[in-house]
Amino acid sequence: MKRTARGIFASLALLPSLALLPASPAAAQAAQPAAAPQPVAAQPAAAQHVPLPDMEMVARALGVECSHCHVRRRNGEPEVVATTGKPKLEIAKEMIVMTRDLNATIQAASGKSATEATRVECITCHRGVAIPKQLSEIILRTVLDNGGAAAAEQYRELRERYYGRASYDFSEAELLRTAQRLLDRRPDDAIALLELNLEYNPSSAASYAAIAYAFTRKRDPVSAIMNLEKALELNPNDGFARGRLEQLKDDLSRSRR
Ligand code: HEC
Ligand code: HEC
Repeated sequence: MKRTARGIFASLALLPSLALLPASPAAAQAAQPAAAPQPVAAQPAAAQHVPLPDMEMVARALGVECSHCHVRRRNGEPEVVATTGKPKLEIAKEMIVMTRDLNATIQAASGKSATEATRVECITCHRGVAIPKQLSEIILRTVLDNGGAAAAEQYRELRERYYGRASYDFSEAELLRTAQRLLDRRPDDAIALLELNLEYNPSSAASYAAIAYAFTRKRDPVSAIMNLEKALELNPNDGFARGRLEQLKDDLSRSRR
């Protein structure tokens, strides 16, 4: 149920309470000479009014449509609620207050003036997604719930959709970090993520070294050796991998004797 910005303005405008609202942030700033938004901390403490952020900016920051938070209330449609049952509009309202408070703290902590201090906006955390999380956290959760293959599929989907934006870190390090947390307990899932990493970063020596480690956990020294050799081919300066390789070869030849 997508709705254009204009559509929602039209429907919201039917609400009696609405007439004043869009104008009020502007009214709050009318006394100020500059067009730049005035930080809330500069207002008297008694002022309860929190200026609404620009709604187009809010929607873009979360990567959502207006209808993510707003519904056409005149039809008696139910509110848009989060998985917890809490209305998204309520969450957003509290987020607006939180963002204002963060900016007041940042200004005080940095000792900078209102215009000098860097402002936190919705996008600072949200970066184009409704529930901002680090990619490594998302992937780890999926591995634990549904396994490495499902996580790899999710990674591909997210990469397809968000690559080149600021939403997620698609660098080699992020998958590597997630895989490293799984090496000991879930070596197969770790290998799935590391192979995925190699698909996008074919010269990731660290991925080969980590795969080698996973294979030692699986008591498969032959595969471990192959992967360590590959890691060293890509990064001959990895002394740790070299030591590991010699040790594994030693162990292997001794066990075959
Ligand atoms: C992330 C949630 C969110 C999104 C997305 C969002 N809004 Fe809002 N909007 C709010 C909140 C919160 C308020 C303040 C409501 C209040 O104080 O009762 C608000 C207020 C408004 C108001 C003032 C009237 C009112 O209901 O209080 C208008 C008009 C409005 N939004 C339009 C839009 C439009 C148009 C879009 C899409 C471009 C949009 N909004 C996207 C959360 C959102
Ligand atoms: C300091 C970081 C931070 C800032 C700034 C921030 N948010 Fe959030 N917001 C979060 C986090 C984290 C979540 C996810 C919470 C969860 O559900 O786990 C979230 C969740 C939300 C949700 C619920 C999304 C959903 O679909 O369930 C809304 C709505 C929202 N934020 C609106 C806003 C708006 C509007 C602003 C700007 C006025 C804003 N946030 C600024 C951190 C932030």
